[in-house]
Formats: sequence, C-alpha cells, structure tokens
Amino acid sequence: MTAEDLAAEARRAALQSYSPYSQFRVGAVVVDSEGRCHTGANVENAAYGSSICAEATAIAGAVARGVRRIEGVAVACVDAARVDDAYPCGNCRQLMNEFRVEWVVVTAGEGSEVRRHELSELHPHGFFLPG
Ligand code: THU
Repeated sequence: MTAEDLAAEARRAALQSYSPYSQFRVGAVVVDSEGRCHTGANVENAAYGSSICAEATAIAGAVARGVRRIEGVAVACVDAARVDDAYPCGNCRQLMNEFRVEWVVVTAGEGSEVRRHELSELHPHGFFLPG
C-alpha cells in the first residue's frame, strides 16, 4: 500500500471516531510485520483524561490480536486545519516505540498533504527497559 492509500484508509477510520468533546476526529492504521492492517479511532470520555488516542486504540487492537512487531502507522486528523496540527502526541510516539514502528504517515483531511517520517525522527532516544 502506498502512503496515499494508507492516508485514505486512516481518513476512513477517523469516521468511527467518538469525539463529542473535542470534535477532533482522528483515525489510525497499524501495518503489522505481515502487512496486515488494524484500524483505530480516538475514543473520548466525559472524564477527559480517560480519552484514548486513535493510534493507541489501533495499536492496542493489533497487539490484542497477537501482533508484536509493527512496521508503520498512518494517522489522519480529518478536522485539522493543517497537516502540522495532525502529528501524533508524545505518548503515542512512545507506544509506537515499544513495537519497533519504523515509519509514520501523517495527514489531515482529504486533499491535504501526506507526509512520511521515520519514527526515529519523530521520537529519537525512545525509552526501552534495559535488559
Ligand atoms: N488525538 C489522537 O487521537 N491522536 C493524537 O496523536 C493527538 C490527539 C485525539 C485525542 C482527543 O480525542 C482529540 O484528539 C483531541 O486532543
């Protein structure tokens, strides 16, 4: 799948977002080491701190199905005004680090720019427990 295909898939996933508090719909697609795709969307909560990012729901879904190695993640924030507002948060970058994500595709709504980054660029010196 091309970065453009993944961006389109992430935008579709964002349509399942439950975001009544922020009205900021985010979708994510995890591509595992066998090329399978696992989608997620942000899930908010009235206790705001209990909200879960789209990347986190996609990663948790994949891991709960047995995935342990993730090749890449595509993220689309369809309500972002600019692609620069659509980058994964720090916590999600660390979640990606755990499963050795190599690349991250970032985009906003349809027709917006699609950017591909190495995770090492977005999250240098990620934390692993020693040993
Ligand atoms: N959000 C994500 O889903 N991923 C990110 O990387 C950044 C933020 C969600 C969380 C919340 O539901 C909404 O966007 C506004 O912060």
